[in-house]
Amino acid sequence: MVKGRILSGMQPTGKLHLGNLEGALRQWVQLQHEYEMFCCIVDWHALTTMYESSREVAPNAREVAIDYLAAGLDPAKCAIFIQSHVKEHAELHLLFSMITPLGWLERVPTYKEKREQLQIESSSYGLLGYPVLQAADILVYKANLVPVGKDQLPHLELTREICRRFNHLYGEVFPEPQALVREEAALLPGIDGRKMSKSYGNTILIADTPDEIRKKVSMMFTDPEKIYRRDPGHPERCPVFAYWQVYGPEQTQRVAEQCRAGELGCVQDKKDLAEAIISALQPIHQRRRELESAPDYVESVLAQGAEKARAVASVTMDEVRKAMGLY
Ligand code: TRP
Repeated sequence: MVKGRILSGMQPTGKLHLGNLEGALRQWVQLQHEYEMFCCIVDWHALTTMYESSREVAPNAREVAIDYLAAGLDPAKCAIFIQSHVKEHAELHLLFSMITPLGWLERVPTYKEKREQLQIESSSYGLLGYPVLQAADILVYKANLVPVGKDQLPHLELTREICRRFNHLYGEVFPEPQALVREEAALLPGIDGRKMSKSYGNTILIADTPDEIRKKVSMMFTDPEKIYRRDPGHPERCPVFAYWQVYGPEQTQRVAEQCRAGELGCVQDKKDLAEAIISALQPIHQRRRELESAPDYVESVLAQGAEKARAVASVTMDEVRKAMGLY
């Protein structure tokens, strides 16, 4: 029994990192067994920030597809596709843009943050309209659930507002989607202790080799009050300890006790953690290597996924045009 329909997406701004894997992909892999799933690679969204390096977006999108597949998304169970391969997203975005008041968009917190973060002087029309495109991604599949991180909740709220406004103006076409917020417990900080994010340069990538993982983990921030092995540490404030909860839950008690007692130094702790991460990622790395040497297979998965997605999206667009009386 399928419980409903899910859409989620990630931007192909680069290869995916462990935050994407543990915070989102693992959950998607579970959900694909219970829901009808659409896993989108939102390349048009990536252009809102990568418009100067537009040529990188397509190769990045293939890397994200490989990460999706290596993590365990099954193309027989869910549609894995690239947003720009399904033009219906663009058409619905345009129609939504007509009924979305500017004020709704100007107050979206991610818009303000992104402008400041990127130090864009005059921000683009596309960046302001980012959440309208996201609403189109979701509603063109009439998705019931959208698994996202907490930071995406304002976008989801806007999607729901656009949904209600459309239904109010033209009749009930779209069901109101709900956010499926993932547990904060699975959140991994970046190696500098801040949120893991490509823009901070503090990520560990799914595709990183064992040596790259060892090197990055060795650079990780730890409890600033623990300088020598004998200093009593505070695991609850230590990024390395947060990783243990994901990559060695059975070790957390030992690590916490030895760290607090001054019996475990950070250097040794990080060496152990790196090996735990490497062994947890081993099956994913194995699949990743196989997929890297099978680009035709990846391309066929994306073509199939787009076809599946288009079949649903085109029916919705017929309904939308009919509801609006556009012939
Ligand atoms: N804005 C999302 C993010 O940055 C990506 C995204 C685009 C998305 N369209 C979506 C997520 C639709 C969920 C559903 O993470």
